[in-house]
Amino acid sequence: MSVVEQLKEQQSQGLAAIMAASDLTELDGVRVAYLGKKGSLTGVLRGLGTLSPEERPAVGKTANEVREALESALEARKSELSAADMQARISADVVDVTLPGRKHPLGTRHLINRIAAEITDIFVGLGYQIAEGPEVELEYYNFTALNHPPQHPARAATDTFYVRDLSGDQFDGPEPSGVLLRTHTSPVQVRTLENAEPPVYVLAPGKVYRRDIADPSHLPQFTQIEGLVVDEGITFADLKGTLDHLVREIFGPDRRTRFRPHFFPFTEPSAEVDVSCGICNGEGCRFCKNSGWLEILGCGMVDPNVFGHVGIDPERYTGFAFGLGVERIAALKYNVPDLRMLVEGDMRFLRQF
Ligand code: DAH
Repeated sequence: MSVVEQLKEQQSQGLAAIMAASDLTELDGVRVAYLGKKGSLTGVLRGLGTLSPEERPAVGKTANEVREALESALEARKSELSAADMQARISADVVDVTLPGRKHPLGTRHLINRIAAEITDIFVGLGYQIAEGPEVELEYYNFTALNHPPQHPARAATDTFYVRDLSGDQFDGPEPSGVLLRTHTSPVQVRTLENAEPPVYVLAPGKVYRRDIADPSHLPQFTQIEGLVVDEGITFADLKGTLDHLVREIFGPDRRTRFRPHFFPFTEPSAEVDVSCGICNGEGCRFCKNSGWLEILGCGMVDPNVFGHVGIDPERYTGFAFGLGVERIAALKYNVPDLRMLVEGDMRFLRQF
């Protein structure tokens, strides 16, 4: 076989191999075998020098034609295979745009926080400011400045969580003092009055702690909202009007309130407030234990002894205060039979609100 014939033979074999290559890797293998440094066509071209001067032009011309034929066939096959490769990848990860999307459930405000925010809004609407105090509190603010005598039962370690108990100590002023988890939000009254001049109109929501075993009507940690007003000429009528407004805003315009005399160390006179039962409309039923009324908060006129601790002149100023339990209000409003349900985090229960 002449060299030219050999070259033609290589061309037809090469073209067949190119067409037979079924993927890009195989195709590159064919390219290397024919046109690579050690490829067969390259070998022939290298051997040109050994040919006679008469043979050289014809062989050289044919070799170039073969190389071009193979190169363009490689190019064409390469784009064919790339397109097929792309097509295969596209159909492999096809997206079904008609599938429904995945839903991410939206969180909602917890009932307790919602009721607290509603109550806060009512008072912000009346011009009150929001006040805060620490949950880890000094015994002085929690009890002493609120006119609790040294032997008051609420101070007992069986009722209050002490962080540092100095009950045997001689002193019970601002320094030194026992440290405890506050049992109510009332200490915020004292802290506020230490730092502000009347007129004072504040609302203090927050967590409080008591050494109670959780049961349907008790939680060892719960939420209170404290209200405090100190100004010239404040009377019990202002307190009644304010709380009537609060109760109707929370429970609806048809509900009535009742003020019962009570005792708190830091208010004088003091009262407990009841709201008419929403189930029997005051007739008496199981929910209100046949009384027609549901107790919702404690309140009273600020005791002059409290003013004494914070240096406010009781001859010039008077004030009222109140404290309510948010969990209890929530339970009464939504007929929740057990306060523990509010803090157990059962979504089936919580989603209802
Ligand atoms: N601190 C009281 C309690 O936790 C509630 C209370 C009663 C707050 C009368 C007041 C008040 O501000 O005037 O039981």
